[in-house]
Amino acid sequence: MSDVSESSGVDRGSVHSPPLGRWLWLVGATILVAGVLFGYDQGVIAGALIGIEKEWDVSTRLVEVITSWVTLGALVGALVAGTVADRIGRRAAVLAAAVLFVAGAIVEAAAPSPTVLVVGRLIVGFGVGVASVAAPLYAAEMAPSRVRGRFVSIYQFGITFGIFLAYLIDQLLSSGDSWRAMLGVSAVPAILLVLLILPSTDTPRWYLTKGRTADARRAVERIRPDDPDAGMAEIEEAIAEDVPQASWGEVFSRRWRTPLLLGIGLAVFQQVTGINAIIYYANKIFAAAGFESVADQTAATTWAIGAVNVLATLIAVAFVDRLGRRPLLLAGLVGMAVSLTAVGFAFRSLADIPEDPVTQTARVTNSGVIALVGLVVYIASFAFSLGPVVWTLINEIFPRSIRGRGVSVATAFNWGSAWLVSQFFLSLTDSIGQAATFWLFAALCVVAFGWIWRFVPETRGRSLEEIEEMWVERDRAVA
Ligand code: BGC
Repeated sequence: MSDVSESSGVDRGSVHSPPLGRWLWLVGATILVAGVLFGYDQGVIAGALIGIEKEWDVSTRLVEVITSWVTLGALVGALVAGTVADRIGRRAAVLAAAVLFVAGAIVEAAAPSPTVLVVGRLIVGFGVGVASVAAPLYAAEMAPSRVRGRFVSIYQFGITFGIFLAYLIDQLLSSGDSWRAMLGVSAVPAILLVLLILPSTDTPRWYLTKGRTADARRAVERIRPDDPDAGMAEIEEAIAEDVPQASWGEVFSRRWRTPLLLGIGLAVFQQVTGINAIIYYANKIFAAAGFESVADQTAATTWAIGAVNVLATLIAVAFVDRLGRRPLLLAGLVGMAVSLTAVGFAFRSLADIPEDPVTQTARVTNSGVIALVGLVVYIASFAFSLGPVVWTLINEIFPRSIRGRGVSVATAFNWGSAWLVSQFFLSLTDSIGQAATFWLFAALCVVAFGWIWRFVPETRGRSLEEIEEMWVERDRAVA
């Protein structure tokens, strides 16, 4: 996920606040649907695994591959997305991602074998990765500065809503083991995305960087019908002020070591504290906690994980600029560490995660209830802190000259660690048990707390230039 809010320069310094034009509503809808699509593909596997395991005799290792390779595809997609969006344009990149989604969803839904299913997961993942960079870029460059922050929040909200929607559809379809329909349904928001982006133009900023002034003018007339002249002048001025993109050598140079390490550290800690083990394997976890029927498992996943995730994200959106980044991150990590420890204790008195969640016969006991409450507290704590705030920070800590590349390096580390966790979670629970696995995540929350406490500065209320200056001063103090 990438966000260039505050930095893209479009419509900078606008003093009047005309009502949003029709085209901006369309841009808002586009970014929302792109987020929903991202989230749907993250969440849908939780319910689909049940039917897949019934249809094919798949090993734990293969279940992990089917689940996690979407993140491998996304890792590659995110790495190439910046270059693709620069070359063919933001709109075309989003369009290509949406078409890939549709193709991947069809391959998944029609897969005659687990291998073809994995190919479908890779294609969908690649689309997710491209969209996770291109869609926020498109929205940030289209939006006037007064609504730019909100547009990026809409994207975050869309992701959690997409996960919730996937759980809900999993729940509706769970009685028939219709995993093919669950995966195929992701083509619907993808087609909606195509329909939304087709009538749109590319961003005026992209046209101008390609020297296509007439196209830029037409785009500005759509999104700033009240005063296209001022709109054009602002974008031209912003482009003139642009700092040239630094080389990869400079991105990794000693000078910017601090923001780079901070970006990578935040991205990695967001994942190794366990979020996607829970998002992807929620049904299996609830099965092990004694939720006997598939209907009970999917209901717990939908409401305890999916709905709580959406609601708690709204807390971060409301408070991130008021309370600051550090308090939210640190408070969230305390909640995550405590709840994971409790979940670990609950699981110690429960049976292991069964291979086939449908046939296991455990009943919901007190420990099962503690596990459920613990997971709710965990998800809520993540959703008001590490979930959105890590992305906010990643997008504001890099100096302008290395921002694009810095954000994509951090994003790639995020997908890479998401892959590691989802690839090895089941094997880990098989070898050391669920209790120890949850305690391991809890221990990593403690490490993350210490690291953030020591190294992550508060950026609330600071301009991007002030943040940049902060690194230079720190470097001087250390030298
Ligand atoms: C993370 C995703 C995660 C989602 C859950 C995002 O901030 O980057 O990996 O699935 O939150 O809501």
